[in-house]
Amino acid sequence: MSKKKLIVPSILLSNALIFILLRFSSATEDEHKEFFIVYLGDQPVSNVSAVQAHINVLLSIKRSDLEAKESIVYSYTKIFNAFAAKLSKAEARNLSLLDEVLSVFPNRYHKLHTTKSWDFIGLPSTAKRNLKMERNIVGSLRSLRASRMMDFGPPPRKWRGTCGHYANFSGCNNKLVGARFFKLDGTRDPSDILSPVDVDGHGTHTSSTLAGNLVPDASLFGLARGAARGAVPNARVAMYKVCWISSGCSDMDLLAAFEAAIHDGVDVLSISIGGVGGKYVSDALAIGAFHAMKNGILTVASGGNDGPSSSSVANHAPWLLTVAASGIDREFRSRVELGNGKIVSGVGVNTFEPKQKLYPILSGADAGYSGSDDGARFCADGSLDPSKVRGKLVLCELGGWGADSVVKGIGGKGTILESAQYLDAAQIFMAPATMINATISIGSDIQIPRSKGPCSFYRFLFISGSEIQDQNAFSSPDVAAPGIDILASYTPLRSLTGLKGDTQYSKFSLMSGTSMACPHVAGVAAYIKSFHPNWTAAAIKSAILTTAKPMSSRVNKDAEFAYGAGQVNPDRARNPGLVYDMDEMSYIQFLCHEGYSGSSMAVLVGSKSINCSSLLPGIGYDALNYPTMQLRVKNEQEPTVGVDIAVKPTSLSFSRSGQKRSFEVVVRAKPMPSPQILSGSLVWKSNRHVVRSPVVIFKPLD
Ligand SMILES: *[C@@H]1O[C@H](CO)[C@@H](O)[C@H](O)[C@H]1NC(C)=O
Ligand SMILES: *[C@@H]1O[C@H](CO)[C@@H](O)[C@H](O)[C@H]1NC(C)=O
Ligand SMILES: *[C@@H]1O[C@H](CO)[C@@H](O)[C@H](O)[C@H]1NC(C)=O
Ligand SMILES: *[C@@H]1O[C@H](CO)[C@@H](O)[C@H](O)[C@H]1NC(C)=O
Ligand SMILES: *[C@@H]1O[C@H](CO)[C@@H](O)[C@H](O)[C@H]1NC(C)=O
Ligand SMILES: *[C@@H]1O[C@H](CO)[C@@H](O)[C@H](O)[C@H]1NC(C)=O
Repeated sequence: MSKKKLIVPSILLSNALIFILLRFSSATEDEHKEFFIVYLGDQPVSNVSAVQAHINVLLSIKRSDLEAKESIVYSYTKIFNAFAAKLSKAEARNLSLLDEVLSVFPNRYHKLHTTKSWDFIGLPSTAKRNLKMERNIVGSLRSLRASRMMDFGPPPRKWRGTCGHYANFSGCNNKLVGARFFKLDGTRDPSDILSPVDVDGHGTHTSSTLAGNLVPDASLFGLARGAARGAVPNARVAMYKVCWISSGCSDMDLLAAFEAAIHDGVDVLSISIGGVGGKYVSDALAIGAFHAMKNGILTVASGGNDGPSSSSVANHAPWLLTVAASGIDREFRSRVELGNGKIVSGVGVNTFEPKQKLYPILSGADAGYSGSDDGARFCADGSLDPSKVRGKLVLCELGGWGADSVVKGIGGKGTILESAQYLDAAQIFMAPATMINATISIGSDIQIPRSKGPCSFYRFLFISGSEIQDQNAFSSPDVAAPGIDILASYTPLRSLTGLKGDTQYSKFSLMSGTSMACPHVAGVAAYIKSFHPNWTAAAIKSAILTTAKPMSSRVNKDAEFAYGAGQVNPDRARNPGLVYDMDEMSYIQFLCHEGYSGSSMAVLVGSKSINCSSLLPGIGYDALNYPTMQLRVKNEQEPTVGVDIAVKPTSLSFSRSGQKRSFEVVVRAKPMPSPQILSGSLVWKSNRHVVRSPVVIFKPLD
């Protein structure tokens, strides 16, 4: 400690010396401070006394009141009792040993999971609605501008949210009833605005998908034209901005937003934000959603875009509803016709007039300055020789974004990008361009006539309703919803691509990803809640899962691990017949079975007194009354395949609503010779309802 004082005037030292001193100081662990969240309990506390109590807790490791006070960045008081503070690892460890401290975990950063779709999944604008109750409130962790006004009337009485005036944001109205932002780390972000305003379009897009008002003639410069609307156009929206352009979305901010949203009185939470992996008890998204669940609020989260590999799904805590992205019956294709008659079909959104002209085409690798080819094959900025490119089409390998702009900037007529990735979502370009599958390899087609005259005919074609994509490239989740090429509102504060030099701005834009799928399902949850205001989060989730439209494992070999229970079906979900309900204790039992210790769950349940060994024994998901079932097969003796599922009893009778019935499912699976997935389902049928639970029996790759 005393040595640290010596380095204070280091402003005068050279870089080399500073480096040495930094290494020296990092050797003593307590010099380096990070943000930690210190959880004390699940009861709300009075704001004023809590702040002093938090200081008192810190006094065990800090020398003075002032030092303790200065290290606290936020006190959580409304839904649970916790604080966020800047601490060294040693201080955090010492705090975690205190009796009154239930859990200490480090603050981590999450990332964002970056109009026709409603009719496609069967919620036409004429759908049955419970208007009085639909005027409920959906919370979306991000930001939104007020759109066209409808006759909403004041927010419901229970609403306690607030809405201030901030930079570039003029306050709320009866549609947007709450807008706040959370940035507790105190860092500056020059690319963002310290305000609830949306500077990147993601929040505006997702929240208008959820609850946007009807906009009759929406399009992106004429593409995807039609009426745009959210799932529940009569619902109010409250926005909680927690993601920042430079830093992403931090645990501390997420927890603060959960606290505010639960306290304010939202009905459904929609979070298109990635998980951070690891344990549920140190991920603010899972923790916040658990507290939301305890307060009767379902959290719908995006499954992430890291698939299609196995175990790539994010946000899979069983109290969350995790959503995968699927396609709708529309693709955006831009075609290139080559001089030899070959037509190459790529994906991409071009807002430019189709070009019906012939241009010579050349490869970026041949268009660099002589001797400096590095980057030219990717058409990187500054790598191409304008005299070679002017008036031509350029074929580039996909590197970073922006090759289309580079080519246009130096006089090129268009860009064809070759991508080695699976192509599903269409990219928006800022200059004429298309993206093709690299295996198509048009290199040989451009070899021959390269030197002489016009040889290719280049134009853009937009094909509507071409193909139903019954699968996705993203993740494995509870349910799937449209997430590819979704048209919804967009921010005026960002160009369509967000790239330097892009001058395209639009009130609507196309975006893709599980981020876009998530608000579709959150909207359906709000729709269900408008008919069944007293249903638990688990009941609403069950209604959505058991009524989903089955998808085909022929299209996606990962089956349920790719699309969950299937495509969300709002109309059937409104009245599912039966629900699989769950309470807090079911989840605790599940966590015990997953190997969590009673004390590690303190951050969820608010006490260390859970005794896992006193809870009923069972295996894995047995504890959960989950609407889907999976069984992992381990045994490897006889190499025969076969599954026998027996259900007892084979019929259930109910005489009044709210009645509970149990049944038993016995699965006898013969050993599986090799890794595989067997999909089936358990279906309860009445003359009015079909309640389907997918059953998956699998042997994973070892
Ligand atoms: C305590 O409440 C006041 C007024 O409601 C508020 O301004 C302040 O930010 C709160 N403090 C904390 C630490 O939450
Ligand atoms: C942590 O506690 C140990 C044992 O009481 C003590 O020696 C150490 O100085 C403490 N460290 C900090 C950073 O408070
Ligand atoms: C945001 O607000 C600031 C200050 O009022 C203003 O200078 C700036 O132009 C605004 N930015 C946009 C994009 O509206
Ligand atoms: C490219 O196209 C071929 C042929 O259609 C297809 O088999 C392959 O999966 C595609 N590759 C990618 C990465 O999309
Ligand atoms: C919801 O629950 C409350 C309190 O338990 C009850 O008064 C109310 O009638 C219920 N509403 C519906 C629609 O069941
Ligand atoms: C937990 O429960 C088991 C079984 O009921 C019991 O034997 C054990 O003493 C309990 N442990 C604690 C710490 O209460």
